[in-house]
Amino acid sequence: MARASIKKVVIPVAGLGTRSLPFTKVVPKELVPILNTPTIHFIVEEVVAAGIEQVVFVTSSGKTALEDYFDVNQALVRTLRERGKEELAECVEKTNKLCEVISVRQKEPLGLGHAVLCAAPVIGSEAFAVALGDEIFPPWDANTPKGPLATLSEQAGTQSASVIGVMQVPREQTSSYGIVDVGKAEVGSAPVLVKSTVEKPKPESAPSEYAIVGRYVFGPEILDCLKAVKPGVGGEIQLTDAMSALASKGRLYASAVQGCRYDTGSLLGYVKAQIDAALRDPSLAGPLKDYLRTLR
Ligand code: UTP
Repeated sequence: MARASIKKVVIPVAGLGTRSLPFTKVVPKELVPILNTPTIHFIVEEVVAAGIEQVVFVTSSGKTALEDYFDVNQALVRTLRERGKEELAECVEKTNKLCEVISVRQKEPLGLGHAVLCAAPVIGSEAFAVALGDEIFPPWDANTPKGPLATLSEQAGTQSASVIGVMQVPREQTSSYGIVDVGKAEVGSAPVLVKSTVEKPKPESAPSEYAIVGRYVFGPEILDCLKAVKPGVGGEIQLTDAMSALASKGRLYASAVQGCRYDTGSLLGYVKAQIDAALRDPSLAGPLKDYLRTLR
């Protein structure tokens, strides 16, 4: 599983987005902008930086705007050019040149594991990446300008196994995440073997403080593990259960992901991303700081 063999990334975008209702009734949360850039744009740029060529969106009804975003819009580009707005026309054209998009449908929101399984016919027997559409690792962290997928793809090639990204979280927050059990091993930037994964454990029973973040590189064997997972509450098929099955075969590694991460599917994460982006924008930082000072 050399790095060059990771050609596809699966990005599931078929969830209900209940934490962001009511706007997710009509707008996919993956399209909410951080300033003027949709969150999905940041993710696809990270994918491209990892050398991955094809994006497989797992979509559902009402999500066509996501596919449209990466498609050509000749009428808009023509109008912008006619009005002398060449820079904007190029900015719009850039979005449809970023990557090749393939779409598959998830007909019912039966969980993240089920969503990944919906992409199986497109994946075939290749290793592939998965990126969650509501988590961003923006390029403004100078230490990790490429984002985690590039590193995880390389490591999966070296280990010839699946490698998932993890980040340390405060123990009191373990019940909000999938947590890895790595025994006594120290999780660092070199991958360590995962013994099992536990979905949202209470702090007192969490096997570690390392939370699974939304970046993964899997061997095709994860698809067999997913097919064997028994549906849980609401018929949902959890990716965490399939990862645990992979771990029990000694085929799953965890690697500490560097850089700043925003969970844009949560309101607080979204607001933090927005403020950080604005404070990094030379035209907004000054006026925004002035405004924030008036709030005290
Ligand atoms: P989340 O659990 O964060 O998303 O799933 P959600 O269910 O849409 O949102 P909330 O929790 O109700 O607010 C992580 C990713 O997996 C996708 C989601 O679209 C999201 O990007 N997903 C989740 C699917 O594609 N299908 C599913 O059945 C569940």
